[in-house]
Amino acid sequence: MASRVIPVDPFDLVIFGGTGDLARRKILPALFRRFVAGQIEGDVRLIGAARSEMDRDGYRTMVRAAIAEFGGEEEGRKKDLAAFLEMLDFVTIDARGTTGWAELAGKMRPGRIQAFYFSVAPVLFGDLAKRLHKHGMANQASRIVVEKPFGRDLETARDLNRVLARHFEERQIYRIDHYLGKETVQNLMAIRFGNVLFEPLWNSQYVDHIQITVAESVGVGGRGDYYDRSGAMRDMVQNHLMQLLCLIAMEPPAKFDPDAVRDEKLKVIRALDPVKATDVVRGQYEAHEDRPDYRTQVDNPDSLTESFVALKVHISNWRWAGTPFYLRTGKRLRERASEIAVVFKDAPHSIFGADAGRHRNILTIRLQPNEGIELGVTIKEPGPGGMRLIDVPLDMTFAEALGPEEADFPDAYERLIMDVIRGNQTLFMRGDEVEAAWAWTDPIIAGWAESGGAPLPYASGSSGPDDALMLMHRDGRRWREIKP
Ligand code: BG6
Repeated sequence: MASRVIPVDPFDLVIFGGTGDLARRKILPALFRRFVAGQIEGDVRLIGAARSEMDRDGYRTMVRAAIAEFGGEEEGRKKDLAAFLEMLDFVTIDARGTTGWAELAGKMRPGRIQAFYFSVAPVLFGDLAKRLHKHGMANQASRIVVEKPFGRDLETARDLNRVLARHFEERQIYRIDHYLGKETVQNLMAIRFGNVLFEPLWNSQYVDHIQITVAESVGVGGRGDYYDRSGAMRDMVQNHLMQLLCLIAMEPPAKFDPDAVRDEKLKVIRALDPVKATDVVRGQYEAHEDRPDYRTQVDNPDSLTESFVALKVHISNWRWAGTPFYLRTGKRLRERASEIAVVFKDAPHSIFGADAGRHRNILTIRLQPNEGIELGVTIKEPGPGGMRLIDVPLDMTFAEALGPEEADFPDAYERLIMDVIRGNQTLFMRGDEVEAAWAWTDPIIAGWAESGGAPLPYASGSSGPDDALMLMHRDGRRWREIKP
């Protein structure tokens, strides 16, 4: 069963930072794959814009190489690739000057959807917005796409929102959090609101606690400079983990439309309690075999930046009062594995007596890899030896249930860029949402700066610092093992 592909309307897309890492790794390969799938067709223009002196042919050569490296180009797609490259154009542009702007304006075709992807450092967002406006490209048909980090705290996020709002309406601004483009993350909403089974139990009366783990096995790689100024809290928690928390905890929106969904997410963020210092654990990875420790990797021997964070979070609303959410994320952990586990309470009374032990239902949603859902249920241990209970998983791996082709999920960027063209903001963050997330994160980061303490070291390939385990042990709970 192949999924239905509905082509989008013709559009002109400008990628500022069109020669950069994100464009080469993600944006252009995603566009190519949508083209191969038949979703992009007809008269479409993809215009790279960057400081480099380059002509159209040079850009096509660069994009061809990028797709070969990151796009899964295969022999059979050679013809497609040639047709795709035909759509490309390039303009040398100075974001802060005058070079290139008139030329770019001349390439945009009136009456089309016009999208501008700001794949550049956030300090340039304001300059780009201003010049687009000045050269007549901020019009009713245009929209801009901005990448994270959207600010580094509440104040800078507010400034950014203000700068963009001078030239674009909120409905024209697409703030990307690529986690929202992941199939399994969208599935959280389908599972919750497409089934009657879970929603009646989805509250503090039945749910003991919820765990959200986003574990990475890689280190900071070549992004040391950026990462050391951010840390796991800004890089992962303020955006990706908060989004997961919102989707798991929010009230059912009245409909699946951008503002209805984002209103509900915002309510969750606003209902978050401030986090106590004792409910947060920071970590930093140590060296392992031939792999350097965090400080060596970011070339900052005194760095106090966290590459791991675990925290216990409370949502003060009717549905969740009394049910803690435990969040953790980090680099250089045992495995790359992201999952959400909803751990239900014990049955109110065990008719099988104390010998039957303690059994709980756990609903696990595996976000990546090996995407799927697992429901732990309690059954009788087979055999004549009395009523002994065991827990077994009802396991649905999407690849098995849907078939390998259907479960070959598109990259998040494919979905998100198509949504920009379709004009659907449901999977993008609204300005007030981003600000609310910073308002909650800022005091945690400020608390670390005030205390002057250092993150706790943890062994590469482990589950993080022991204190993170204690965060749950002291509540009589434990983390699920990190496994793919
Ligand atoms: C990015 C972070 O937003 O997400 C990276 O900046 C992180 O540090 C990445 O590695 C994780 O994304 P994914 O899709 O690999 O889970």
